Amino acid sequence: MPDIYPASDEFVANAHVDSAKYEEMYAASISDPDTFWGEHGKRIDWIKPFTKVKNATFELGKVDIKWFEDGTLNVSANCIDRHIAKRGDQTAIIWEPDDPKTPSQHITYRELLENTSRMANVLKAQGIEKGDRVIIYLPMIPEAAYAMLACARIGAIHSIVFAGFSPDALADRINGSGAKAVITADSAPRGGRRTPLKTNTDKALQHCSDKVKCLVVKHTGDQTTWVSGRDIDLRAEMASASTDCPPTEVGAEDPLFILYTSGSTGKPKGVVHTSGGYLVYASMTQQMTFDYHDGDVFWCTADVGWVTGHSYIVYGPLANGATTLMFEGVPTYPDAGRFWEVCAKHKVNQFYTAPTAIRALMGQGTEWVEKHDLSSLKLLGSVGEPINPEAWNWYNTHVGKGRCPIVDTFWQTETGGHMITSLPGAIPNKPGSATKPFFGVQPEVLDAATAEVQTRTAAEGVLCIKDSWPGQMRTLWGDHARFEEAYFSQYKGYYFTGDGCRRDEDGYYWITGRVDDVINVSGHRMGTAEVESALVAHEAVAEAAVVGYPHDIKGQGIYAYVTLMNGVEPTDDLRKELVKWVRAEIGPIASPDLIQWAPGLPKTRSGKIMRRILRKIAENDYGALGDISTLAEPAVVDDLIENRMNRA
Ligand code: PRX
Repeated sequence: MPDIYPASDEFVANAHVDSAKYEEMYAASISDPDTFWGEHGKRIDWIKPFTKVKNATFELGKVDIKWFEDGTLNVSANCIDRHIAKRGDQTAIIWEPDDPKTPSQHITYRELLENTSRMANVLKAQGIEKGDRVIIYLPMIPEAAYAMLACARIGAIHSIVFAGFSPDALADRINGSGAKAVITADSAPRGGRRTPLKTNTDKALQHCSDKVKCLVVKHTGDQTTWVSGRDIDLRAEMASASTDCPPTEVGAEDPLFILYTSGSTGKPKGVVHTSGGYLVYASMTQQMTFDYHDGDVFWCTADVGWVTGHSYIVYGPLANGATTLMFEGVPTYPDAGRFWEVCAKHKVNQFYTAPTAIRALMGQGTEWVEKHDLSSLKLLGSVGEPINPEAWNWYNTHVGKGRCPIVDTFWQTETGGHMITSLPGAIPNKPGSATKPFFGVQPEVLDAATAEVQTRTAAEGVLCIKDSWPGQMRTLWGDHARFEEAYFSQYKGYYFTGDGCRRDEDGYYWITGRVDDVINVSGHRMGTAEVESALVAHEAVAEAAVVGYPHDIKGQGIYAYVTLMNGVEPTDDLRKELVKWVRAEIGPIASPDLIQWAPGLPKTRSGKIMRRILRKIAENDYGALGDISTLAEPAVVDDLIENRMNRA
């Protein structure tokens, strides 16, 4: 396998950015960000044009990030109205349902305008105003996009809760954001199964103010209980609502959305993105990273419950007047060829997914890919975790047939858009490397212990970013102090990503994974502390410590060490019950893969759990346990090793 893969001459000749242009634009973006972003800020429409561009400081105690601060705009008008004259009849969204026997839908920009305006008018009729929060807890149906854009249209702030989250997690987010309404559906079909979203919402709302309204999309027709005065049939209301809803003018720095994500402490963090800078960045990265051209069909397989869906299913593509595909289902239903069948059916040109999906499909054999005509594909993308060479090679050979560049995009909920990624016409790929920074992004490798900036090209350490970019999060909802503490306190003057990385002699970046207590399970971020607090909430559990361990398909699996209350019998039934418990507390994505009974946990004399040791045991790596002499009870470690779960 060669170690470097340039795009074909033909691809480069048609690309938005080639290598000379990348070098020139990157240098300009760093040497004079005001001029660079002042120019690129014009890619979106402003109601009142900005006169100021960048105004940001990472200084601890004063962290403040503003872009285009005196400009005003409306995000939904940018994603819809401004395209109507030229593209009213062009498909904006292709909707592909879970069940392939259900017809897919093509929603034109004109229809998108009508539906978004109708939904915005329903929200207004419910008293939702500029600055109010609205929770969206929906399947991957067109209403999810209408709901996001309807909030943006009236200046309301949406917060999407992934449909796999539990009623408790939903209640926390409704209360945490102080939402006035929840938009949900009767149920969410996925892979032939249904998640009872309305029932979950009913349960969540028992823990919320009785003023919170519940707007329900009757999607599957499943029977649900109905609370009159609180529950509203959204489709019925939309049918009679006006299709005219003038977009509300908002400031560039008015929040567009809050998205809760896991951190290294127990409570999820409400990441706040604002309107102007986020949209400029999402649209520019969508166009340049994927080399999107007019008329292309773009498919990002993420769920809108994650940031990837926000930036690359809805906001980025629609701001660019693209045709974006929204898929309700899963890669393996009804069979392992579904992704490829959908690519062939809709003649997808750019396909963007996570390594975990590739690994799962790889295990099913190549016949599922070979069966479908993938000649429309021009480019492939990867996101969420490092892509291992086997998966890269399979993706390249069997899906891309060796002719599609693969962009490995490193970014985060906090960053709004791609941070380190190849631009396909400019930067040859090395499998497993996210390659080089996007315009305006200044990565630095710092020594983890000394915080010293590594000045040699080839270096290893933690990944920090030196200065602001327009898509950067602005704060944590209601907790600016935690924002500063979580991202700017470890390495003074820098935004700390939480990731480790290596930079090679060519200046390519290789992300080596989280260095904090966050794990990456199937490309989804999970705080180990969140799973621990769910476990200790069970009456049988005295103490729990959760770590990640290498998992063939998921990347990392969830490994829980559990100390039971005195007198409680460790049984297989209890193990199953605890897994079920965590699913109910957080959601299926947090299910522990392995639970090891631990009569004791390795702690320092001051009582701190030594996770490093627990991680090594979970990885079956005993040679590297390091110094255990500071443990209060070193014998605990022998017991844990003897009873480890993931025996090789
Ligand atoms: O550890 C990095 C990993 O995913 C984390 C961000 O997770 P989240 O906020 O859920 O966003 C995921 C989708 C943008 C990062 O801190 N990560 C994301 N992309 C990559 C990656 N690790 C390696 N390579 C990537 N391309």
